[in-house]
Parts: sequence; structure tokens; C-alpha cells
Amino acid sequence: MVLTIELLDSKRHNRSAFFSGNDNLDNYIRKFASQDLKKKVATVFVLIDSPSTDIIAYYTLSSYTLDINDLNETFAKSLPRYPLLPAILLGRLAVDSSRQGQGLGETMLIDAMKRALRTTEQVASVFVIVEAIDEKAVTFYQKYGFQQFKEYPFKLYLPVKEIEELCQRFDV
Ligand SMILES: CC(C)(COP(=O)(O)OP(=O)(O)OC[C@H]1O[C@@H](n2cnc3c(N)ncnc32)[C@H](O)[C@@H]1OP(=O)(O)O)[C@@H](O)C(=O)NCCC(=O)NCCS
Repeated sequence: MVLTIELLDSKRHNRSAFFSGNDNLDNYIRKFASQDLKKKVATVFVLIDSPSTDIIAYYTLSSYTLDINDLNETFAKSLPRYPLLPAILLGRLAVDSSRQGQGLGETMLIDAMKRALRTTEQVASVFVIVEAIDEKAVTFYQKYGFQQFKEYPFKLYLPVKEIEELCQRFDV
């Protein structure tokens, strides 16, 4: 068995059995992820334990634009005064309940950050933004340095500079 992270292939990967315990995240991978990928709304990366093609975890990435007024003032002052700033959105991240607590959420998050970092070498972004599904998810992201937006506590950000350090910390 070999853990592999790859782009969702709706013809090959088995989405129907995925169960993270969160209905929104489970419905998304079963019903909407493939369309989002086709329509270029999001890229969807899945973790499989090959040769099995059952999805055991997934995350999505998209481009995002951030209003500078959403940032705290001290941080905003350190940036050029453009009204909108480029970012990358980690919109969803989930691990199948049978495999939670084994470090796979962390593996997926670091893989997403590594991919985001590589993207910024070609198309600049100031942050990665994550959207947490609930308070537990907020705590999960905070563990890796993500900070909450004051007005939107379920939305968190991490500057790309700190993502470089995060990836180095995990020897990626
Ligand atoms: C949150 C989730 C992605 C974590 O994945 P996981 O594989 O269970 O987590 P890991 O085993 O990689 O844990 C990594 C670290 O995060 C911590 N952690 C895991 N789940 C956590 C949670 N819900 N709240 C706070 N911390 C959490 C772990 O304790 C671990 O820290 P440690 O190494 O210091 O012990 C997974 O539980 C999940 O899919 N939950 C349902 C959907 C969800 O909440 N998604 C979040 C993004 S929207």
C-alpha cells in the first residue's frame, strides 16, 4: 500500500464511500468536486492508498482576492496600499473518519502549502486563506500558524513568507 496525493480523476477515484463526518465536505467530494475541477473553479487533490482507489482525504485550491480592509491594521500597514491583494484559497480539507488522527490531515495541509508555494513562484500571492468548517477546524489551522480575520472568525490567513517557514519546518 502506497499513500499518493494526486489530482482528482472522477473516472478512477472512488468518491462514494468517503465519510469525514461532515455532510458538507462529504457531499462536496461526492457530487460537486468533479464539476468544480472541470469548470476550473477549484483544483481537487485526493489521497489514496494505492492500489486502492478509495479517496481517504482531499483538499481544494483556488485563486482568491482579499480586501485589504479585512486585514488587521498593523499587518495591512506593512503591505502596499492596493485595495485588493492576491491570495490562494484552501477551500476544503477533509480526511475520512476511518483514517483521522493518523497525521494525514497534517500531510494534506503541508502538501497543499507546498503546492501553493510553488504556484507563487509563477503567479504571486500574499497569503493562503483557509475556510474552516467549524471551531474544531479553526483550532486545527491555528496549530500551523493561521490567524483568524477579526470580522470572519472561520476564515484564517497565513502570509506566504510564513508558509515557507512552515514547509521548511516539516522538511518539505
Ligand atoms: C480536521 C481534520 C482535517 C484533521 O485531520 P486528521 O488526519 O484527523 O489530523 P492529524 O492526525 O493530521 O492531526 C494533526 C494535528 O492536528 C491536531 N488536530 C487534529 N484534528 C483536530 C481538530 N479537530 N481540532 C484541533 N486539532 C486537531 C492533532 O492533534 C495533531 O496535533 P498533534 O500532532 O500536536 O497531536 C480531520 O479531522 C477532518 O477531516 N475533520 C472533519 C472535517 C474538517 O473539520 N475539516 C477541516 C477543514 S474545513
